[in-house]
Amino acid sequence: MTILGIETSCDETSAAIVDGIRIKSNIISTQMVHQEYGGVVPEFASRAHIRQLLPIMHQALETANIKLSQIQGIAVTYGPGLAGSLLVGLCVAKSLSLQLEVPWVGVNHIEGHILATTLSNRQPAYPYVCLVVSGGHTLLVYVKKPMDYKIIGRTIDDAAGEAFDKVAKILGLGFPGGPAIENIARQGDHTKIRFPRALLDKNNLDFSFSGLKTSVLYHVKSLKQPPSIQQIADISASFQQAVLDVLLKKSIMALQRLQCSDLVLAGGVIRNSNLRDQFQKMVKEKKIKLHLPSPELCTDNAAMIARAGHVHLENGERSSFNLDVNPNLCLDHTVTN
Ligand code: KG4
Ligand code: ZN
Repeated sequence: MTILGIETSCDETSAAIVDGIRIKSNIISTQMVHQEYGGVVPEFASRAHIRQLLPIMHQALETANIKLSQIQGIAVTYGPGLAGSLLVGLCVAKSLSLQLEVPWVGVNHIEGHILATTLSNRQPAYPYVCLVVSGGHTLLVYVKKPMDYKIIGRTIDDAAGEAFDKVAKILGLGFPGGPAIENIARQGDHTKIRFPRALLDKNNLDFSFSGLKTSVLYHVKSLKQPPSIQQIADISASFQQAVLDVLLKKSIMALQRLQCSDLVLAGGVIRNSNLRDQFQKMVKEKKIKLHLPSPELCTDNAAMIARAGHVHLENGERSSFNLDVNPNLCLDHTVTN
């Protein structure tokens, strides 16, 4: 089934053509307009989606070398995300479905992230645990069978990616913070400052990153002068290691508790090469099978949405034209009708 995927939930406008697990094209346009504001401005995001979505869609068709008339199904993110941004994608998907007379399905953005790794030949074995770490979410999900998601851990405050973005802002590193912190941390010493690792002693799988962010803020304020480049590098490396330690430890706890041997990683923070290396090292020691999406499939993209849509369309699901955007959509309410 040749699926057109559409993703407009935040600040990436993306369209993709996916056939089963084969990506034929995956065009992603990251909106630069937000950089000078240090975070995503919702109104600017929806305006940029309106301007960019159709050209990006045409580019996706051209790259895949197929015509619009060859599309057999449409998958679009309908939540969670920014209401105005989601609306742009949803309106285009509904209109195209009517015009082309093909089925369409609304997709949960988080399910798209979880299934990004299945866009390859190596499929995770059920049941598995997925760690989702993005700008808006930090979740541990137990995936018992296809389309059956149970959240077993979540952040009680900031998401991991959000912590990267906020700490980068404190350090004057710009937006988005994740790549900026990763870059400068390469020159830093991660043992220089011992930042807190929250909730590690408790017997639960939840996360908390706001204390860590505040701790970085107090550390910077305690310096007599603005931090030097080397100090910024040391703070970045120490902060990054604190986040990674928690993610590693909680993932191991979840795998042990649920007796799973497959671990899937998902979300923008998984682009971090330090994180990728440390997880790879950990799974070798513990004999766990790790499923890592390629870096471009970690951050928001339409191929992962097309993939999730494919699973639901093949399952016979069809979304109704009454389906509206759901900015707070939960993973356990993925049924789209
Ligand atoms: O999954 P994503 O593209 O969007 C959401 O669904 O939120 O994730 C974006 C998040 C941002 O917070 C960004 O700072 C973070 O992923 N990120 C990274 C890296 N690249 C992106 N965090 C750490 N290291 C990176 N290399
Ligand atoms: Zn995302």
